[in-house]
Amino acid sequence: MSSMLHYQPEWVREDFIDFIAEKVNPLWAWKRVKAMIVAIEPLSPDFFKIQLRPNQNFKSDALTAGQSILVTVVIAGVRQQRSYSVIEQLKNGDLIIAVRAQGIVSKRLTQMPIHQVVELSQPQGEFLLQSNDQSRLLIASGSGITAIYSLLKQALRQDESDSPIQIDLIYFSRDQAFHVELQQLAEQHPHFHYHFINTSEIQQHLDLELLKKMTPHFQTATTYACGAQPMMYSLNQIYRDLNLQDRLKQEYFHIHVDENLPAQAVTFLRAQQQFQADRNLLESAEQAGLRPAHGCRIGICNTCSCTKVSGSTKNIITGEIDHGNNTQIKLCVSQAVSPVVINL
Ligand code: FES
Repeated sequence: MSSMLHYQPEWVREDFIDFIAEKVNPLWAWKRVKAMIVAIEPLSPDFFKIQLRPNQNFKSDALTAGQSILVTVVIAGVRQQRSYSVIEQLKNGDLIIAVRAQGIVSKRLTQMPIHQVVELSQPQGEFLLQSNDQSRLLIASGSGITAIYSLLKQALRQDESDSPIQIDLIYFSRDQAFHVELQQLAEQHPHFHYHFINTSEIQQHLDLELLKKMTPHFQTATTYACGAQPMMYSLNQIYRDLNLQDRLKQEYFHIHVDENLPAQAVTFLRAQQQFQADRNLLESAEQAGLRPAHGCRIGICNTCSCTKVSGSTKNIITGEIDHGNNTQIKLCVSQAVSPVVINL
């Protein structure tokens, strides 16, 4: 097999080699990253830890806490990708992701048999710990805990050697996923303060009062946040009002468009196609039968970046409106608020 992999005449195509290789071993591939599911374990009734054993093509040394991987699942013959934070990398190189059984792709992933092989991307994303923080405030809601958990573990590991700095975690969740482990970590590390808000019991949203009450020093901390859109929206508003945007590092999940905005005509200039968009521009284009390049679908990987020639778009994450001509936008997190022309 290895001699075949090193023999690369011009006419030998990668997909042909992979086709032959996977007949021998489903994990083998020339360049592609594949991984075998080796364990699936429930964290709560609908949240599962999945252990993946990647092949030799995965760049494990490049993986940093807070990054994610795209997992490709084939459903009814169609390749579908979703992004998941790597919550842990084991000593043997196995990757642990946590997946909520929501939506067709994630649900399918949590139901896959052990030893099933899936395709992965290399590590991606820039949601990483900074080195010079005075103190750290981590904020998570729902599935956003996966990226935050990975940053927390990294921060606690660093603190073993350096002088520890205060870490606070505010976690909004309707279930107990990660809760017991986080409580234990808080007991073991006196400089880590854990604030759990069980949203199935109390109606509490993120606001300035809550931030001040739980973390009076939050304005001097570096804040890392990942969660559902309403929480992220409030957080952005608070930090904007206080002129603290520089202290806020963020990652998003569950991106929804503003349903009160009317559909707009969108033109893909080079493809000479026009369609009505009432969702994010990526989904609307796909609905119209177009296939723009994409990866994560949540604004992380930049694959869907393109030039907006004219028109106004709303950034679904930050709420900012971009009226400029010839500006870069990401299709997956942009909604048209006027007729828009895209250079695609
Ligand atoms: S698909 Fe990754 S940023 Fe849009």
